[in-house]
Amino acid sequence: MFERPRGTNDWTPQDMAKRRYVESRFVQVAESFGFREIQTPIFESLELFAAKSGPGVVEELYAFKDKGNRDLALRPEFTASIVRFYVNELRSLPKPVKVYCYGPAFRYEEPQKGRYREFGQLDAEVIGGAALASDAEVIALAIGTMRAIGLKQVRARIGHIGMLRAYLPFGPAEQAIVLHALDKRNFDMLEDELTRLRHEPLADPLKRVVALHGGAGVLEEAREILGGKGGEAFDFLRQLSEQLAHYGILPSEFEFDMGVVRGLDYYTGMVFELDSPNLGAEKQVGGGGAYTLAEVFGGEPVAQTGFALGVDRLVMAAEAEGVFGPVPGLDAYVVPIGESARGRALEILTTLRAAGLRADIDLVGRGPSKNLDYANVTRARYAVLLGERELKAEAVGLRDLKTGQQREVAVRALVEELRKG
Ligand code: HAM
Repeated sequence: MFERPRGTNDWTPQDMAKRRYVESRFVQVAESFGFREIQTPIFESLELFAAKSGPGVVEELYAFKDKGNRDLALRPEFTASIVRFYVNELRSLPKPVKVYCYGPAFRYEEPQKGRYREFGQLDAEVIGGAALASDAEVIALAIGTMRAIGLKQVRARIGHIGMLRAYLPFGPAEQAIVLHALDKRNFDMLEDELTRLRHEPLADPLKRVVALHGGAGVLEEAREILGGKGGEAFDFLRQLSEQLAHYGILPSEFEFDMGVVRGLDYYTGMVFELDSPNLGAEKQVGGGGAYTLAEVFGGEPVAQTGFALGVDRLVMAAEAEGVFGPVPGLDAYVVPIGESARGRALEILTTLRAAGLRADIDLVGRGPSKNLDYANVTRARYAVLLGERELKAEAVGLRDLKTGQQREVAVRALVEELRKG
């Protein structure tokens, strides 16, 4: 017996139907927004993620050496890979570059419900647009995706890391530790670090600011507490909320939250997170914001912004909100009656499959009545029965498995009948 590795999952056909549904909604909405799909490798050089993802993510990397002694890591997210791709190959494309991708990501975290070591992400990035317009575009795409999935109880919390960075009078390395403490709401760590940096008095205003959330009023409160530092951030957020209104985003779908700090280190501007209240401890279904990575990877400075949604958590949120109906069964289960009918049954089956219908046939050697039982339990819509009489008449018996009603249908009309539903 083998156990699957801790923090990984096996997915049943029902699970996969839900995951594919969530992914397909994202693809559809992203394409409608003019984003194009790309793909990057599942493993990269360790250095790519160590460069700027921050201590939280670096500690969680699945890092290994390959047989050529190269230091590699499984991707913990997509953003660093996408910006590497952009800097190396996509930067000559007309701006803005709007791309999306999705697939598995890996973090060595303590597994619990909704937190895994292998998990799915849906990621979108805008590189080289104007900051305000691009930030509004990615938030609208994130909220639009959740709406398209059918989620009603999800809310965006929008903050600005630039506001906090402007307030912290130290270099990026020290800022990273202070921001990490704020992200984790670890106020002991915050005070220790500020004491070490001889800036103890900053602790109190920082604690008060990260507790602020609500309507536009909190922007003024935050501005006052921070003594005017990071002023542009507040004007920016106000304008952002105006743009979101033009996108049709409702006031109930987002709030300002000065406490959005984010676990990754590369953010420099607007930051946001999306929660589903139904998920308990791991309620964050997505997050993102504006960042600077292209210049770290040797590119010219351009505005960069994006987000990732967690597939696992979106599926859980959709389950909690009752979004999923039953997974549809086969369109048709073909039942040959008697050995002589099997050859013709296979031909009819092949025609149905070629027409794009989902059709199946017995592979076990069951008799007709056991076959019908099987078609019923697997929730096929129709049984296509083929006996001596039907064979002669070039017809089939088409039984609706919901109503139990059966009628004779000519083989040449069968695809049409099944498509009618
Ligand atoms: P993140 O907040 O680290 O952001 O991850 C985004 C989402 O991925 C989370 O909100 C969560 O739903 C899901 N997620 C993260 N870790 C796990 C886990 N261990 N198990 C299950 N789900 C998880 C990023 O990754 C950034 N790259 C987002 C971004 C894109 N920022 C700019 N562009």
